[in-house]
Amino acid sequence: MDPPEEVRAQLERCGQGHLLRFWAELDTAQRGALLAALPPGLGEHCRQAAAAGARQRGQHERLDGRMEPLPPELLGSARRSGPAALQRWEAEGLHQISQNKVAVLLLAGGQGTRLGVSYPKGMYNVGLPSGKNLYQIQAERIRKVEQLAGKRHHCKCVIPWYIMTSEFTLGPTEEFFVQHNYFNLDRCNVVMFEQRMLPAVTFDGKAILEEKGKISMAPDGNGGLYRALMDNKILDDMKQRGIQYVHVYCVDNILVKMADPVFIGFCISKGADCGAKVVEKAYPTEPVGVVCCVDGVYQVVEYSEISPETAQQQRPEGGLVFSAGNICNHFFTVEFLEIVAQKWESQLKHHVAIKKVPYIDKEGNLVKPLKPNGIKLEKFVFDVFQFSKNFVAFEVLREEEFSPLKNADTADKNTPTTARQALLAQHYRWALKAGARFVDENGCRIPEKPSLSGTEDPPAVCEISPLVSYFGEGLEVYMKNKEFPSPFVLDENKVEMLENS
Ligand code: UD1
Repeated sequence: MDPPEEVRAQLERCGQGHLLRFWAELDTAQRGALLAALPPGLGEHCRQAAAAGARQRGQHERLDGRMEPLPPELLGSARRSGPAALQRWEAEGLHQISQNKVAVLLLAGGQGTRLGVSYPKGMYNVGLPSGKNLYQIQAERIRKVEQLAGKRHHCKCVIPWYIMTSEFTLGPTEEFFVQHNYFNLDRCNVVMFEQRMLPAVTFDGKAILEEKGKISMAPDGNGGLYRALMDNKILDDMKQRGIQYVHVYCVDNILVKMADPVFIGFCISKGADCGAKVVEKAYPTEPVGVVCCVDGVYQVVEYSEISPETAQQQRPEGGLVFSAGNICNHFFTVEFLEIVAQKWESQLKHHVAIKKVPYIDKEGNLVKPLKPNGIKLEKFVFDVFQFSKNFVAFEVLREEEFSPLKNADTADKNTPTTARQALLAQHYRWALKAGARFVDENGCRIPEKPSLSGTEDPPAVCEISPLVSYFGEGLEVYMKNKEFPSPFVLDENKVEMLENS
């Protein structure tokens, strides 16, 4: 059987006739799948991708001369604010949570290529004593902050968890949540939806076949969120539930404060429609985007798009000029998301990623290229900052809130080991602050190290379940002046035992 004549003619016209090269070898199901997978606007996408790729390979768009750091009045800070302000923001955040007006939204459509696992990153277990994976930690933090808000306001409240997945991650993520009984969350409050995919394209504008009957597709970037919100009617769902504020975050930060009441309260008290959490950049080449202004408009300049000279610029008083490191934790009002989705989504720019994309050559062999051969276009979640009427940024302490899992343990940064160390260092600090003491297997006191950095092993291993404490609060009752072995896991069962002891 020949492919429908009009399809062949259409593909030939837009330079994509090669996609039917192996038609004769495909069975009926494969033929059907190939035709069904031909995306609308394929020719235009391929033209755009090739042109964007050529521009990028020629030279990066030069933003350097146009970049300015954020004006200080826009930048709130957990470090520089006194306890009264922090408590005020936290109270505001907890109040909004208790009113069921806050949701969290996870960006989990990425492929996690750098980590090198074939399953979604959220399922990763970094080797904590409890064996918890990232999803479980996040789910338990949601449950705990719901509890804190409910207790303070004498009510029961819910933070819905929206999870954006892609063709690669939806199936395994759903299955994982079912297997783990949704980590004891009510499953009607966990809403998974899928972002779109885009074809990978060669430098001369041809869609790439990864199998004889299959085009190589990749998720359209975490900025695919806005299209996906519309495609899947997620904003309607939010409005039906009465949600007004959304905390959007990326999957790999083991220290993420889910629905962080302080951040949410800060953004609301400033009347912001859009906000970004940042940490001070650790070193000029750190792979984090910087939140800044370009031509007077708020923006993140991604680590792949900033020149080394600009990244290294120093302030006269010391410290980097562009130091507001993006940790992919954003605040949006639902109203803002609606305006973006309806009015601005199509104007979001495409960023170019040049990648090694496996392909089927003319003879029908699968080739794994050694050099980059393909262009993937992606939208970025933060590219909507420019449309904000009232943008704010909020700086938090890295050791308390940011330790991303990006690479396998063969790398020296942002690995399972560094993520585990960061979490255990934080919990050790919390335990010491609550008055705990640790002893070794001979009952001897383990010398304390209160000023522990997030990148070294604490002298004693103490993991605190998020179901016991969200951010170090309420631990004195269980830990003050008590001795604990190392390793020690403070979970709900231990809490019960300590209460009865
Ligand atoms: C991201 C930020 C970067 C920030 C860094 C902090 C973007 C574009 N970049 O970089 O500025 O400094 O985190 O850790 O936000 N994702 C999707 N769909 C996709 C692609 C990605 O949902 O098509 C999700 C991933 O699953 C992940 C998040 O977006 O949860 C971030 O993606 P990743 O590729 O890890 O971004 P980075 O390059 O690390």
